[in-house]
Amino acid sequence: MAETAKPLTMDTIVSLCRRRGFVFPSSEIYGGLGSTYDYGHYGVLTKNNIRSLWFRAMVQERDDIVALDSAIILNPRVWEASGHVAGFTDPLVDCRTCKLRFRADQLEDGRCGRKPSKRPGETPDCDLTEARQFNLMFETHVGALQDESSAAYLRPETAQGIFINFKNVSQLARRKPPFGIAQFGKAFRNEITPGNFLFRVREFELMEVEFFVPPVDAPKWHTYWIDQRLDWHRDLGLREENLRVREHSADERSHYSSATSDIEYLYPIGWQELEGVANRGDFDLTQHTQHSGTKLEWIDPDGNRYTPHVIEPAVSIERIFVALLCDAYDEELVGDRERVVLRLHPKVAPVKAAILPLVPRDEGMATRARALYEELRRHHVVEHDDSGQIGRRYRRQDEIGTPWAFTIDEQTLEDETVTVRDRDSLEQERLPLFGVREWLDDALQQDWQSPRSH
Ligand code: GAP
Repeated sequence: MAETAKPLTMDTIVSLCRRRGFVFPSSEIYGGLGSTYDYGHYGVLTKNNIRSLWFRAMVQERDDIVALDSAIILNPRVWEASGHVAGFTDPLVDCRTCKLRFRADQLEDGRCGRKPSKRPGETPDCDLTEARQFNLMFETHVGALQDESSAAYLRPETAQGIFINFKNVSQLARRKPPFGIAQFGKAFRNEITPGNFLFRVREFELMEVEFFVPPVDAPKWHTYWIDQRLDWHRDLGLREENLRVREHSADERSHYSSATSDIEYLYPIGWQELEGVANRGDFDLTQHTQHSGTKLEWIDPDGNRYTPHVIEPAVSIERIFVALLCDAYDEELVGDRERVVLRLHPKVAPVKAAILPLVPRDEGMATRARALYEELRRHHVVEHDDSGQIGRRYRRQDEIGTPWAFTIDEQTLEDETVTVRDRDSLEQERLPLFGVREWLDDALQQDWQSPRSH
């Protein structure tokens, strides 16, 4: 096998996602809606895996984090208290010539509407306005009246739903700091310049934990969460050389943050934020206490009151999805044929195994393949594929990252064994047909490292 080393581009990932039904541009038959995407079958399966691996690590396997699912549209006063109405803004400039809008702080990444090889402001025809602050929250109305009194927002983060439930959860879940509340769900931001596929979209799925700690312990827990989250991304199979941690400078931090570190991934567009781990201090609980009149504080057994500080690891499924696909994408020559393969962690792969009758017309093979498929699908997402040449069927599975293929062939009819083919090494071994289920269960429990790791 020989590697065909070409630098990976986002377009390659976009085209694989489309070709194999992971992700499609949304509203396509109506011309699309800028940077909005719909997920097809394999995309849904992959997202489900990412979400449940996150939930498992953050809630299921811990004693100190509980789950929450708050509403998307909250009382608008929540967003006044949180500072989002006043401060969740990006600086915006308009070009009077090409009528496009750009983020004033990212002009070097923009493309002039008339001359896309130039950046906005670079040509003599560009006529940019002064920068003004643009609020990223989507506004809507609740109820039949459409005036200022009914205005509300689609949540730009899930975090505020957690803060306003601090009292409910800390009392009812009988938890004391340090403890956390986890929430995943859709978030909406009217980004000025969305783009780079799913990397920056206007509708995405956030996964956040607000971890409440005694104030003196906040720096220690901040470091703890940076390390935990970095390990989680490594365990998911992202290669070490493509991950790093970068601390924000004071002028970069969000309005609520007293310290933030980003876990960055080396996307085809360069090093970019994958996940943020912020120390939000007591900003949010204090703001909601002041604005709501409800005390959001902790009273310890000695009667001492304090407002816990908050450490927040926050990441979108979209950023993980793109990082995983970029990390996994590989092209290589096998003999004289090129194969595209997604070397995904088996736990992330949308389909865990393919069951392939070598000669679909052969009744013995077809019956055994179908029976194996029906047994395995009760436990795992597996696929039965009996259309086309076996080589093409393998290649289809390689492109969606299926780690193993079980092939039912002539020998199966003689000795009730099957061939298992490994996606990464292409090695094949024979297993007893009755042992396949156990073999697969066991293989899915093993640690995994990308064969491309240095
Ligand atoms: N509650 C904190 C918070 O929302 P953030 O850094 O604005 O912090 C958290 O966003 C994470 O959400 C980011 O680290 C990134 O993974 C993801 N994210 C932010 N904006 C995004 C967008 N427009 N499209 C996709 N993911 C986004």
